[in-house]
Amino acid sequence: MAKPIHELIPGFIREINPYVPGKPIEEVERELKIRAVKLASNENPLGPSPLAVAAAQKALADTHRYPDGGGYYLREKLAARLGVAMENILLGFGSSELIDLCARAMLRPDSEGLTSQGSFPLFYISMRATGAELVEVPLQDYTFDLDALAGAITPRTRLIILANPNNPTGTMFTASAFTAFLDRVPDDVLVVLDEAYFDYVERADYSRSIPLVLEGRNLVVLRTFSKIYGLAGLRMGYAIGSAALLAEINKMRLPFNTSGVAQAAALAALDDAEHVRRSMESNRAGLKQLGQGLAALGVRYVPSVGNFLLVELGADAGPAADDLLKLGVIVRPMRWMGFPDAIRVTVGTREENQKFLGALAQVRSAGVTKR
Ligand SMILES: Cc1ncc(COP(=O)(O)O)c(C=O)c1O
Repeated sequence: MAKPIHELIPGFIREINPYVPGKPIEEVERELKIRAVKLASNENPLGPSPLAVAAAQKALADTHRYPDGGGYYLREKLAARLGVAMENILLGFGSSELIDLCARAMLRPDSEGLTSQGSFPLFYISMRATGAELVEVPLQDYTFDLDALAGAITPRTRLIILANPNNPTGTMFTASAFTAFLDRVPDDVLVVLDEAYFDYVERADYSRSIPLVLEGRNLVVLRTFSKIYGLAGLRMGYAIGSAALLAEINKMRLPFNTSGVAQAAALAALDDAEHVRRSMESNRAGLKQLGQGLAALGVRYVPSVGNFLLVELGADAGPAADDLLKLGVIVRPMRWMGFPDAIRVTVGTREENQKFLGALAQVRSAGVTKR
């Protein structure tokens, strides 16, 4: 008998571990019949920029038209902000799409994609889906080990993907460490630097990646409107890279990958400095609140420069995440991302953080369910 059709899909695709999204709040509330807070997907707890929502609503009236596929006005505005040309910017259906496009552009079954263990699962999925060999280097102290990554480059390496800050550990590498790393990368390798949490980082030694793009390095920087701008549901991200490289990648992009509503919202969000300021302040205070609360509970966590914390709970992490869920707090157990002893909690509002800390105290003292 002929093979079932799905068995004709190449093994390198069938072996992929699928992406596991955070549980939607509605699902938890429906199933458990309780009010829940979602601290599972590194979203902005203050919601979207009000200016963005108003612009999106206005743009809905034009939804019978296909959008401007190239996102002219948004690219124009981003280019002016960043001091680059419009041709140095490519919009994506979230930065996720751009990760995938870079992998598809650079990798073939005879090449290697390189990244770190313990990072964003889409890196592995996108690189594996090309049929290339995926090479993963361990983290060092929860941080990308740039030295080991440079050492792992082979003549077959064509793509390296780095996250700075890293998800789920919240750690970063410095601008000077990154420049030293780039100096060790051969000319036939593209480096993708995923800066999804760029806007939260307040350290002076953080990224100076745009000048490196302008210098002509083989570098694509990825940023997103999903985090500090609070537009995760509208799906808008962008790549900054050389015009010639982005022109090639652009050929593989679906014609209308970003909607007119998302483009309008993103344009307005860029003007909402007040929302960005409030979001940063809220995150700064939340990181402090969570850090102090966890220390008071005697729980270890990895200090973070992002909007989330990797919290070490030992062997109990998986069951603890289930118990937190029963108390109406959705966090992410981290076994599937390589940290079986940890959960990842997104920084919420003051009340949400308090609810998490209270629930965690309860889970750790008594346990919610008998195990
Ligand atoms: C490191 C990293 N890169 C990219 C993304 C994807 O963001 P987007 O919503 O722009 O696709 C995330 C989302 O959590 C992330 O953590």
